[in-house]
Amino acid sequence: MAKIPVAVIPGDGIGPEVVAATVPVLVAAAAREGATLAITEYDWGAERYLRTGAAMPADGPDQVRSARAALFGAVGHPGVPDHELVWGLIIRLRQALDLAVNLRPVRSWPGVSTPLRDAEGTDILIVRENTEGEYTGVGGRVRPGADAEIALEVAVHSRAVIARAARYAFDAARARRGHLALVTKSNAMRHGYTLWDAVVDEVAADYPDVRYERVLVDAMAARLVQRPRSLDVLLASNLFGDILSDLAAVLAGGLGMAPSGNVLPGQSPGVFESVHGSAPDIAGRGIANPVACLLSGAMLLDHVGLPGAAEAVRTAVGAALADPANHTPDLGGAGTTTTLAGAVLAALPDAPVPAVTATGGNGQS
Ligand code: NAI
Ligand code: MG
Repeated sequence: MAKIPVAVIPGDGIGPEVVAATVPVLVAAAAREGATLAITEYDWGAERYLRTGAAMPADGPDQVRSARAALFGAVGHPGVPDHELVWGLIIRLRQALDLAVNLRPVRSWPGVSTPLRDAEGTDILIVRENTEGEYTGVGGRVRPGADAEIALEVAVHSRAVIARAARYAFDAARARRGHLALVTKSNAMRHGYTLWDAVVDEVAADYPDVRYERVLVDAMAARLVQRPRSLDVLLASNLFGDILSDLAAVLAGGLGMAPSGNVLPGQSPGVFESVHGSAPDIAGRGIANPVACLLSGAMLLDHVGLPGAAEAVRTAVGAALADPANHTPDLGGAGTTTTLAGAVLAALPDAPVPAVTATGGNGQS
């Protein structure tokens, strides 16, 4: 039986709740493919920060590097400044492991209503550049407190990093419905985003079979609401991808439904996490929607080479969501984290029956 090392980082708030609900589903789905997930759990997050002054140990990224993939819950704690945890844990992991691309698939689910009258059939993959742009931390603040105080937040865009995200996105478009929309703001931001346009145009020339268009981010915000089915793969910078993917998550039924993965094309480990945070407003009540984490787990199974198990999890999630009795309060139901995850576990399709070759000899065939 193949043993696949997987790191699990439950984190804070609802993170441990949705991760605890997800892990048994992933283990069962892997087992049905004849694989074992060898899980190592890490206590990284706010509690550890309060105890030791650091959200994860200095060699945290190296510890994760020995796994094929990591499942991450969420960080965020009312008693700890957000940037300490977000920078000290998840952004540090993304940067240390050079997780170049953030994948955010969004699709509608039969039985789950959304604020849009007609979101049915929406199926979008947002490919977000994950290491640069507006989130590098370059900049500073001077003259604190004075009227003349200024802050600089410098966006960093580089040719090689844009090109590797673009290649990933075009490959994904080729494997999907063959359409890619690049999201920038090159009319108003004349340096970084004109570089994006130029580099992605060049990459597009290698993919003549993919229909390619450029859309400004403000127009894309409107189009996601008005015509979501006109979109397949969106390629966006760190900031625009972050914002648009929360908007897009609403099309799938809300933040509780939105999975993501951080990957470096062709390398491991990938880090898979819900788009949502630690949701302190509902933490500890057992009502968090586990679907975002379950679907992140399905992406993890794809990443470690178990696409059959990944598809089984998605099929089971669809079956569980089709019955409103399973819906958690964010979906308008009275279900709980454990009842919804339990319904998913129960709906996992049976393991594929291995082909049996008749050997004969007992008079039967
Ligand atoms: P949030 O995503 O935690 O919550 C936003 C709203 O959505 C809340 O009303 C929450 O109850 C609801 N929600 C989120 N996930 C849900 C789920 N699975 N089921 C049902 N309802 C759900 O974002 P917020 O409130 O802005 O941030 C809370 C903390 O999380 C902050 O400390 C923030 O820094 C952190 N955060 C961490 C992230 C990460 O770990 N990657 C991402 C976003 C925020
Ligand atoms: Mg976000």
